[in-house]
Amino acid sequence: MSWKTLCQMDLHGKRVLTRVDLNVPMVDGKIADATRIEKIVPTINEIIKKGGTPILLAHMGRPKGERHQNLSLSQLQEELENYFKSKVIFAAECIGPSVKTALKIVKQGEIILLENTRFYAEEEENDPKFAASLAALADIFCNDAFSASHRAHASTTGLAKYLPSCAGRLMESELKALESVLGQPKRPVATLVGGAKISTKIALLENLIEKMDSIIIGGAMANTFLFSKGFNIGQSLIEESLKPTALKILSKAKKFSCNIILPTDLIVAKELSKNTPTSVVSADQCPENYMILDAGPSTVDNIKQCIGSAETLLWNGPLGAFEVPPFDQATSQAAKFASERTKNGNLISVAGGGDTVAALNKAGVTESFTYVSTAGGAFLEWLEGKELPGVLCLTK
Ligand code: 3PG
Repeated sequence: MSWKTLCQMDLHGKRVLTRVDLNVPMVDGKIADATRIEKIVPTINEIIKKGGTPILLAHMGRPKGERHQNLSLSQLQEELENYFKSKVIFAAECIGPSVKTALKIVKQGEIILLENTRFYAEEEENDPKFAASLAALADIFCNDAFSASHRAHASTTGLAKYLPSCAGRLMESELKALESVLGQPKRPVATLVGGAKISTKIALLENLIEKMDSIIIGGAMANTFLFSKGFNIGQSLIEESLKPTALKILSKAKKFSCNIILPTDLIVAKELSKNTPTSVVSADQCPENYMILDAGPSTVDNIKQCIGSAETLLWNGPLGAFEVPPFDQATSQAAKFASERTKNGNLISVAGGGDTVAALNKAGVTESFTYVSTAGGAFLEWLEGKELPGVLCLTK
């Protein structure tokens, strides 16, 4: 797959509509985690350095075509100025008089921030007129929002029809990282898939079985597999109706010689609460009034062995109820092991999707993984083998 990068565009004196992901968590009007902002700094700075003017396009939340002050991007203006070290002019629209004024007053080295694209129903409808009106504001479209590229919206795909288009630096790193795991990975290649539900990961497992040498299954989704094998799972969280799906996944894995690693022992407790008494039991022996809340020590050894012999690791989701100690232990130990191997140059480790970043942050290893994606849904859809419209339109 090939797409243009910022290097191939003449940015001098050009207005660059730059799609970024500013869908950052907010608490009481303050940014709770600015990772997504930090990650777009290189793209914005490069555009400015090469003489272009970035016009930022982004969504926040799901306002469905209505204006909600708590989802206005104006809240981010000051923080963006701190990160970019440049003046950010906020326009309270995406098209209209305030945008015209911003375009008139903006000076070289400054940035324009347009209002939440999802305040316009036409954005999610991928309305061609809306996309054409946005395109009229600029000379180039740069998509730096991999994490929104699973959406076929005006600002993620529609614009590519009207403007010369390229990928931003963050988009480029995300695609390269995913390519290193799913394209021609260094083998053996393993995936660790955790989290609560199989139902959200069926397509992902089906796709990865064909590509991976091993898949480690953890979190509450492993409970459904244990239940399918006829094991006692006590009061554990499971998706009973997915027993046939779990069995189908196991038999497909056999067909493709993909080694599935399920828990062999478990950490169980009577309730999910901080520092509650726990026991270690074998995988088929969860007592009736207990629930499975983490993988046990032998399972962690098996996981380490698998990661220890892998050259490439893809990590998605936690192994246990990691938010509540001590049920963060398996996730933390496996993540630290992967991080050490990565630091020693023995492993390419790529992580992303959903709770993954929070789990790796808690284990303190985010910095030492080869790549940690800022994407949630887009990362998962890529793992499912789907073509992402926001990426596809850059390759045309
Ligand atoms: C995300 O937070 O994963 C992206 O910003 C996409 O948001 P969406 O799921 O509302 O499209």
